[in-house]
Amino acid sequence: MSAPRKVHIKSYGCQMNVYDSDRMADLLAQEGFCETATAADADVVILNTCHIREKAAEKVYSELGRIRSLKQAAARAGRRVAVVVAGCVAQAEGEEIARRAGVVDVIVGPQSYHRLPSLLRRAPREGLLVDTEFPIETKFESLVPGAAQAVRRRGISAFVTVQEGCDKFCTFCVVPYTRGTEMSRPVAAILAEVEELAAAGVREVTLIGQNVSAYRGAGRDGEICTLGRLLYAVAATGGLSRLRYTTSHPGDFDAALIAAHRDLAALMPFVHLPVQSGSDRILAAMNRRYTGADYLRAIERLRAARGDLAFSSDFIVGFPGETEADFQESLRLVDAVGYAGAFSFKYSARPGTPAAALADQVPEAVKLDRLLRLQAAIDRNQAAFNAKCLGARMPVLFEKPGRHPGQLVGRSPYMQPVHVMADAPMIGETAMVTITDLSPNSLEGTLVPKTINPRRAVQGEPETCPG
Ligand code: 5AD
Ligand code: SF4
Repeated sequence: MSAPRKVHIKSYGCQMNVYDSDRMADLLAQEGFCETATAADADVVILNTCHIREKAAEKVYSELGRIRSLKQAAARAGRRVAVVVAGCVAQAEGEEIARRAGVVDVIVGPQSYHRLPSLLRRAPREGLLVDTEFPIETKFESLVPGAAQAVRRRGISAFVTVQEGCDKFCTFCVVPYTRGTEMSRPVAAILAEVEELAAAGVREVTLIGQNVSAYRGAGRDGEICTLGRLLYAVAATGGLSRLRYTTSHPGDFDAALIAAHRDLAALMPFVHLPVQSGSDRILAAMNRRYTGADYLRAIERLRAARGDLAFSSDFIVGFPGETEADFQESLRLVDAVGYAGAFSFKYSARPGTPAAALADQVPEAVKLDRLLRLQAAIDRNQAAFNAKCLGARMPVLFEKPGRHPGQLVGRSPYMQPVHVMADAPMIGETAMVTITDLSPNSLEGTLVPKTINPRRAVQGEPETCPG
């Protein structure tokens, strides 16, 4: 019997790419491929790429340089290696990749990768194949669950794509061009995938979409279902102890979504809610369709529904025309919200987006200076949030062994990694933990003896609230 062929997948960028990479591995597993962690012994190398900022896109070209040497070495040893560029760079720069790289066999966009097996079969005969069509319905139809595979790779926590694409057209963003218009998966398909994951041991599901709060899927009753209602339906499947969703738009929080935070114990009290800027002038130029005050009101409504809700965000500094006064508004907003964490980026002009054509681009040195100051403010907020957790008791979902013998790592409701001395069979369980120590990127804690308020530990509600 011949050895199974091996595929190596390197994923860049967002969680949707992580999910898509897993689906590509599932598709190729059906063709007899197994996964390998190194490119050097792979028969197929897939780069699942990100186009969101220039730096992300550039990584692809330098990685292709390394893969060229690997491919040449394999050819000298009489072994053929197929190279695939997938994801958003493939979608946006397919021709450029073909022209510059010369090493690539298949270029496949994020809406076409369900055709990857046939593309790989055809490539040796037909040469470079490019498939960047946008037939998203067929992709969603091909997302059949593959739970055994999925759990092996994803462990206790898994992503489930519910929505893809974006119609918001923020002026800085490539997503509406690379991922296309908004499409939502039907509720029944999502529930089937969730149930299969839960049956195979997954305990936490994060519903993902580029603009997940715009979810409008076909419900089982034939009605259009929003994200709020979808969350109730997923929670009702029963097999999960935790539920999350990302990434949402501050303009999309309707009553059902807010009520879900009040009603669903499994829905974790942590929301990633990108604001991008604190300046109304810049928010308007970004076409974000809300003001700083609107954003703070959305946060207030959510906190009124669930008092211990914590937030993270994305910020862009140095958007064209951003003055020091505009930037100060972003700094003020960081402190007004009291984030548990946030990502911040220097504005990167993306070809084809409206903001790239604006005249008053901000100098690189100014962008860097603002980024460092914003990051300091975010770090200060994060440290204050973590400090409030010290001494608190909170439910931790254990995911894997820690670095030290006898130690497990889990997540708090607020996504903080928590290190605890606990036995391996507790992986997949949620237990109450007292937080005893803080380090910059994680917490340490000890198990609370089971006799202390076990009801809340099972439900996953934090007993003390750092919010
Ligand atoms: N430049 C810098 N950051 C960007 N983002 C999206 N497009 C750009 C860009 N052109 C950031 C936003 C978004 C996150 C995923 O990436 O903050 O929320
Ligand atoms: Fe991009 Fe998000 Fe704006 Fe959509 S809502 S255009 S994905 S930043």
